[in-house]
Amino acid sequence: MLDVKSERELMAKAIKASKSSYSPYSNFQVGAAILCSSGKIFTGTNVENASYGGGICAERSAAVTAVSQGERKFLAVAVFGSFKDAREDGLQYAFPCGICRQFLREFAAKDMVVLVGTSEDDYKKFSFYEEILPHSFGPEDLNMEA
Ligand code: THU
Repeated sequence: MLDVKSERELMAKAIKASKSSYSPYSNFQVGAAILCSSGKIFTGTNVENASYGGGICAERSAAVTAVSQGERKFLAVAVFGSFKDAREDGLQYAFPCGICRQFLREFAAKDMVVLVGTSEDDYKKFSFYEEILPHSFGPEDLNMEA
C-alpha cells in the first residue's frame, strides 16, 4: 500500500516529467512516473515524431527507462497530461492509452495502482488489474514470468 506522501511525490514527478514533453504535433504534454519494486522512481514523457506513428507515449517511455535500468516489477504509475499552456482550471485526468495499458501489464505487480491527476492535490487512484485492464493477457498466459 502506498502512503499519501508517496502518492503525491509520484504525481509531482509525473507533472515535472510532462514539462519535458516533445509534442509539437499534438501539443498534448504527458508525463509518467513509475515506482518500482526496488523503491526507485523512473519518469518519462511523450516524444512525438514527424512520422506521426513513430511517437511514443509517456507511460511507455517511463517503462522502457525503468526496464533498461534492470527493473522488472512496477508498484505504481502516475500519469499527468495537459495541453501546452492550458489553464489550471481546465485540466482533466489523462488515462493511459490501450497500448500503454498492455505494455505496463508485462511488469505490473499484482496490486499495482494507477494514479491519474491534475495536481499533487487532485488525483484518483485505480487498481490496475481490476479497473484499468481487467481480463488481461500477460506473461503467465505463455507460462512466462516478466
Ligand atoms: N499520449 C501519452 O503520452 N500517453 C497516453 O496514454 C495517451 C497519449 C501522448 C501521445 C501523443 O504524443 C499525445 O499524447 C496525443 O495523443
